[in-house]
Amino acid sequence: MRKFSKRFGRLGTETAFAVGADAAAWASQGNTVYPFHLGDINLPTPKHIVEAAMAAIKAGKTGYAPGAGIMPLREKLAENVGIDRGVQYAAENVSIQPGGKPVIGKFLGVLLSEGDEVLYPNPGYPIYESQIEYLDGKALPYGFTPVAGGFAINREEIERQITDKTVAIIYNNYQNPIGAESSAEEMQYIADLAIKHDLWVLSDEAYFDIRYGGKSESIVSLPGMRERTVILYTFSKKFAMTGWRLGAAIGPSDFISGISKFNTNYESCSNHFVQYAGIACLTGPQDPQLAIIKELRQRRDALVNALQDINGVKVSKPNTTFYLFPDVTEIYQRKGYTSSAAFRKDALEKTGVSFCSREHFGRRLPTENKIFVRFAYSGINVPQIEEGLAKLKVFWES
Ligand SMILES: Cc1ncc(COP(=O)(O)O)c(C=O)c1O
Repeated sequence: MRKFSKRFGRLGTETAFAVGADAAAWASQGNTVYPFHLGDINLPTPKHIVEAAMAAIKAGKTGYAPGAGIMPLREKLAENVGIDRGVQYAAENVSIQPGGKPVIGKFLGVLLSEGDEVLYPNPGYPIYESQIEYLDGKALPYGFTPVAGGFAINREEIERQITDKTVAIIYNNYQNPIGAESSAEEMQYIADLAIKHDLWVLSDEAYFDIRYGGKSESIVSLPGMRERTVILYTFSKKFAMTGWRLGAAIGPSDFISGISKFNTNYESCSNHFVQYAGIACLTGPQDPQLAIIKELRQRRDALVNALQDINGVKVSKPNTTFYLFPDVTEIYQRKGYTSSAAFRKDALEKTGVSFCSREHFGRRLPTENKIFVRFAYSGINVPQIEEGLAKLKVFWES
C-alpha cells in the first residue's frame, strides 16, 4: 500500500531542532547547557503589546478575521514598511500571515511550475530548499565567501547556474545563519541580475530591524525592483514575538492576492486578536524595542570578544541579526575531527556549549573547504555567554 506522496518525500525540515533535542537530553541528566543553538528570543514581549492582545480578546476579536488580515493592520504596515524603504505601499500590497515563514511556501506556490528553478542562499534558512523541492522546483544554491569584516555572495556560483528556467532568487540580506550584510554594490548586483533575467525576488527581511549600527536597506528601494519583489516581513524578532505567529507578505497587489488565496485554503485567517497586538507594535512606544536591541548588542559584544579570545577561531562582528558564524577549521583539524556532528556533540558533552553546525543550514557546496558553526545569542544572557565560552576556550585550546 502506498502511503505518502512523492512530493511529500521531497519536503525537508529544520534539522537544527535535533540540536535542541541533544541539548535537552544532556540537560535532563543534570548538566548545565549554554544554549547557542536557539534562534528563539528569551526576552518577554513588551507589555503594551501583550495588553493590546488582551484588550482585543476582551473586546471580542475572537472570530474569523478577513483572509488577508484586518484592514487597520494592513494599512499601518503598508505605511511603515513603505516609509522605512522609501516606496509607496497601500493595504492591497499587504497580506497578513501567521509568521514570516509561511511567506516562503506561498510565494513559491504562486510562482512555480514543474522544473522552474529558484536561486537560494546556502548556508541559509533551510525552509527555502525544502519548499522549492516540495513544490516541484529545482533548487539552485548560492554560497558566500569570507571577505574583510564579513561575507560576500559568491557571484560566480549564481552566474554558473542561472538558465532560462530560473524564475526567482531568494535574497536574505541580514542573513541567517551567517549574519552577512550586502554592500550597496552587492545589492545592486542582485537587482541588476533580477532585472536582466526577469526574476522575481523574495526579499526575506526577517532581521531588517535587528541592527546595532548603520541603517538597513531593502532591495525593493532600488529602481525597477518594487514590481518584482515580495518582502517577507515578521514581527517575531523585532518585538520578541516568535510564538505569537504574526508576519506579512508585502509586494505587488496581484501577487499578494495570490498569496492571500493560500491563506483562505490553509488557515482561513491569521489569529484575529494577535493582529491588534500588531497594530500596537507599529503605533506604540518604541523604547521597549530599543531595550531589546540594547540587550542583544551587549550579548553580541560579549560573544564576539570571547570567541576572538579562543586560539584558532576566526569571527567577524556583524551589525545585524543575532547570529555569529565563526570559522573553526583550525580547531577542527588540530583536534583531529572528521565529522562536524562529532565536533558539535563533543563541545556539548565536554563544556555544555550547544551550537549548530553549517550542515543545519543546507547541503555543503562542493566549493567549501572550511568548517563553520553558528552561534545564536538571542536565547542566552551575558553571564551565561561568558561562563560557557570560558569552558569552551579551555576545551578547544587543549
Ligand atoms: C531568515 C529567516 N526567515 C524567516 C524566518 C521566519 O520567521 P517567523 O518566526 O516569523 O516565521 C526566520 C526565523 O528564524 C529566519 O531566520
